[in-house]
Amino acid sequence: MIKTIDDFAVEGLRVLVRTDLNVPLDGDRVADDGRIRASLPTLTGLMTRGARVIVCAHLGRPGGKADPRYSMAPVAARLGELLGRPVELTADTTGPAACAAVAAVRRGGLVMLENLRFNTAETSKDDEQRGAFADQLAELADLYVSDGFGAVHRKHASVYDVALRRPHAAGYLVQAEVDALSRLTANIRRPYLVALGGAKVADKFDAFDSLIAAADRILVGGAMAFPFLVARGVKVGTSLLEASQVAAAAELLRRAVPGQIELPSDVVVAPEPGGSGTVVAADAIPVDQMALDIGPQTAARFASALFTAQTVFWNGPMGMFEREPYAGGTWAVAQALTHGEAFTVIGGGDTGAAIRALGFAEGAFGYVSTGGGASLEFIQGKTLPGLAALEAS
Ligand code: 3PG
Ligand code: MG
Repeated sequence: MIKTIDDFAVEGLRVLVRTDLNVPLDGDRVADDGRIRASLPTLTGLMTRGARVIVCAHLGRPGGKADPRYSMAPVAARLGELLGRPVELTADTTGPAACAAVAAVRRGGLVMLENLRFNTAETSKDDEQRGAFADQLAELADLYVSDGFGAVHRKHASVYDVALRRPHAAGYLVQAEVDALSRLTANIRRPYLVALGGAKVADKFDAFDSLIAAADRILVGGAMAFPFLVARGVKVGTSLLEASQVAAAAELLRRAVPGQIELPSDVVVAPEPGGSGTVVAADAIPVDQMALDIGPQTAARFASALFTAQTVFWNGPMGMFEREPYAGGTWAVAQALTHGEAFTVIGGGDTGAAIRALGFAEGAFGYVSTGGGASLEFIQGKTLPGLAALEAS
């Protein structure tokens, strides 16, 4: 049984909260604060109850060394705005600076640690190295709270090892995510459609096997589509292709029920992600151009398929939605999901950011998960290290 923060008397305790504040930046500004907002119920809940809150998180992939481009400073600033009080950021994650900053936090107060991934040990595959770092983090706290759902699929020191070293609880976000995503693991109402896109192609390919077993139809867009198109003998020009995935895509097309995996039939191309694009058939991408979105015919086909669904899981934008000429496919999928009676789950930091950027209200969807890789692994029934650690007594 996983305990929650309501199971603990937190007044006066130092509570280390692992959040997922890995948000897109625009220079030194937070471009989408969805993950920061999603962490507020747990943070304010603990502060109101008199806990001394220590927030920790990662930002990007700085590769184990301090790098000002990946400082949590913009995140701390935005969290401060949302809380209505400044948020102090420690200069280091552990060591004297962090200890002093934590010691100074009063009841009801909060401090943020600098980017956890400035330490190689955070993401190390070596249990001892991770453990030594986790020991230092654990020293800062009396209670560990796991609320960074987007990172619970990572066996990292702050996600997994610290939990084993202190009394631990799930925060409200992790609870809500597990409740919503559990509806996609058993007794799924059919037809069950999955829409997959986005750029982290290799991560999502691992999920395909179990999606083929679970879903009635899988609609593929974004950079996910290119290995499949190439496997079908189509040339994709200068599109963002992960060539190592082509053989796997061919195998999946062989294994799927005919028609189960649906690919783009038209795309929006441009010489580079700049000006406006041109719509071409998916098998007629010019050699010197790249596909940046699914085309209108594909968008309409995907939308009408989604209307027929009773359950939908969508992970990954259909194109480079950040630029208006390539946002049409992502918009069409989002729009389709706001109609119909399906239970819809949107997964992924980028996909959540996409729907917000395109002006959709989160309430128009069944559930908007803050986890991309994490939600995908959860619905496959995989053991997620960050959740498994919470089960341990
Ligand atoms: C995410 O943005 O998907 C999570 O924060 C995990 O980040 P990662 O893929 O760099 O581990
Ligand atoms: Mg992400």
